[in-house]
Amino acid sequence: MSDAVLIERHGSILVLSLNNPPVNGLGLALRTGISEALDQAEADDAVTAVVIKGAGRMFSAGADISEFGTPRSLADPNLPSVCLRIENSKKPVVAAIHGVAAGGGLETALSCHYRVASTKTRLGLPEVTLGIIPGAGGTQRLPRLTGVEAALKLITSGELAPAAKAQKLGYVDEVVEGDPLEAALAAAERLAASGALRRTMEIEEKIAEARANPGVFDEFAKSIAKKARGFDAPFACIEAVKAAATLPGPEGLAKEREIFKGLVGSSQAASQRHAFFAEREVAKIPDVPKDTPVKEIATAGVIGCGTMGGGITMNFANAGIPVTVVENDPAALDRGLETIAKNYQATVDKGRMTQEDMDSRMTLITGATDMAALSEADVIVEAVFEEMDLKKQIFGALDSVAKPGAILATNTSMLDINVIAAATSRPESVIGTHFFSPANVMKLMENVRGEKTAPETIATVMDLSKKLKKVGVLVGVCDGFVGNRMLGPYLREAGFLLEEGALPAQVDKAIYDFGFPMGPFAMMDLAGNDVGWRIRKRQRAENPNNLRYSDIADQICELGRFGQKTGGGWHDYDDGRTPTPSAKVEEIVVETSKRLGIERRKISDQEIVERCLYPLINEGAKVLEEGIAMRPCDIDIVWLFGYGFPRYRGGPMFYADTVGVKTVYDKMCEFHEQHGDLMKPAPLLEKLAKADKRFADL
Ligand code: CAA
Ligand code: NAI
Repeated sequence: MSDAVLIERHGSILVLSLNNPPVNGLGLALRTGISEALDQAEADDAVTAVVIKGAGRMFSAGADISEFGTPRSLADPNLPSVCLRIENSKKPVVAAIHGVAAGGGLETALSCHYRVASTKTRLGLPEVTLGIIPGAGGTQRLPRLTGVEAALKLITSGELAPAAKAQKLGYVDEVVEGDPLEAALAAAERLAASGALRRTMEIEEKIAEARANPGVFDEFAKSIAKKARGFDAPFACIEAVKAAATLPGPEGLAKEREIFKGLVGSSQAASQRHAFFAEREVAKIPDVPKDTPVKEIATAGVIGCGTMGGGITMNFANAGIPVTVVENDPAALDRGLETIAKNYQATVDKGRMTQEDMDSRMTLITGATDMAALSEADVIVEAVFEEMDLKKQIFGALDSVAKPGAILATNTSMLDINVIAAATSRPESVIGTHFFSPANVMKLMENVRGEKTAPETIATVMDLSKKLKKVGVLVGVCDGFVGNRMLGPYLREAGFLLEEGALPAQVDKAIYDFGFPMGPFAMMDLAGNDVGWRIRKRQRAENPNNLRYSDIADQICELGRFGQKTGGGWHDYDDGRTPTPSAKVEEIVVETSKRLGIERRKISDQEIVERCLYPLINEGAKVLEEGIAMRPCDIDIVWLFGYGFPRYRGGPMFYADTVGVKTVYDKMCEFHEQHGDLMKPAPLLEKLAKADKRFADL
């Protein structure tokens, strides 16, 4: 027998410890181990009951995701049969759950006859986040314990609920402080003595109501339609739970398995799996090993309390880190602090935060008008206007204010970190922390390493990202870093498409239908068109060339149409928020085509997607070649978390692998021929296409 399941005897009870570090993934060895141990328990008359627990830090995180797509994942004994084996055992089986019981881990526990969890445990079925449904009876057993409505909410959201909530909903029987083993042993003894076993699949009461009213499933599907747009798995989850309520038990289980098998090999599931692992991979930096010392961040400073500085300040307060925010002008400071308070108040008003939480966060925030107030800060994030001279002046002054060893970070979205670092005598402590707007909401931090940034500075900032509940991606210095640099060609092509025959609403719709939360024009209207205008002016002054350039965006800015904030931009916003087509913009677009002598043509949605996304991917290939991003997965995470690239497509580089690098390359060659050098395929794209390789093979 393998040591994937450790077996001990506690009196007449056989205790099985799932032992597959780090998370007790239910791979083939573990499944076999459970089966064999149950055989042993059944064959041994001296054994009266079984307790299943997890070795190490949790019960089990479910199926071994890295096995998906390999024959091992479906090999016998598969998880559904192990769960049935547990449920049908003649001797009681009790789950002693600590840490996490997720996915197949919870499904294993749901098959047991009793569940004890420790107070700090989280339990749920997060399969939906991997583009699949629970495939080992979760959609059939959970509703039998909680009722259909609660099960639908849990399964379609993937929430890992705390033990107390799980008990309230009915899928945990007992919650105890500390190690649940003792209570589980006691329960096992009680069950063995009573001889009465509650088999979850035999429970009918909780699903009876939905059985009588199958309309609840359509109503629920409608309620999640907006949030789950584009994703297959949430709707498949609903179908599976419906099977629990409308079919006899065994048929419900078979239906669930059929839906699971249909999804597990899908490109959505592969993309979401990729996103799961990529999110963890980005934390690994080859030349900054795991044991690099990390500085403690006990207090923080922020310079500038505008749009970004205010949000960054909130991030520190949300993480419980006292933070001092500095503005040079008292009126600006008051305005900034008021905006922070208003933002918190809005969250309280929506019922998403208590008044006490807001008050305790506000007390962590101190305002100041002199940088001397930052002398004790462990990290200082500069977020003043995007002007190099101003940033240099601030960093020069910080040099004499900040304590030795403090991290000096800049939130610049484009400027050269090396030039900023050179304004100090300690470039090793300087790093970019590029938050995305709104900084208190968006989860991405592009952490930018300069030539001289020390490993300790990098390790500390990557760790800080986690503490702020962000995903930190380490990137190198270039104009726009990874995200905004790749955004350049995407926006550029969107502009050219207007000159050639499209209108903003059509481009936006095609990109929205691809899965982005909004199209490029709606996005620019939200961010403010003046921002891009300033960047384009700087870039054209720094790098004059005679390549094709669309001036429609500039014409729109010249009219003061900066976007939502001015009531109009690429679109009109009569109610301040909802885009409607603008007759003025259409006139400008059509006039521009005429002036350029371009005959407007019908442009398909497919062309829009390819024209906008393939050049973006092409730029990603350049970013990789130059070492600005370490790996394709770093780029994917930047786009998933910073720009709303649809998670079910995995990010731009994974998407390129999905449609085929050669397909992207061939199309780029065609665009190059039609539209000139801006569309020249990147050498790395060409190399991969010609070698029939994927970005994932790098
Ligand atoms: N399979 C394989 N590897 C897994 C895994 C799984 N189910 N869950 C986590 N891991 C790996 C991670 O990739 C990570 O590896 P590295 O250290 O090499 O990066 C390591 O285990 C530790 O994971 P985390 O860093 O995520 O640890 P954490 O403590 O922050 O979080 C957790 C723990 C909440 C369990 C989190 O890992 C998690 O959400 N895991 C996935 C849970 C899940 O989705 N389960 C459903 C699986 S599908 C299923 O079960 C299908 C079915 O019905 C048959
Ligand atoms: P903002 O104009 O809203 O805020 C800048 C603030 O800095 C103002 O409140 C100003 O009073 C203050 N300030 C100026 N000089 C100062 C000084 N000497 N000392 C203290 N405070 C001073 O600008 P925003 O949008 O917050 O941008 C800040 C930085 O963040 C810029 O570098 C920008 O490129 C970057 N960024 C902006 C994003 C956005 O979407 N707005 C996204 C990501 C980065």
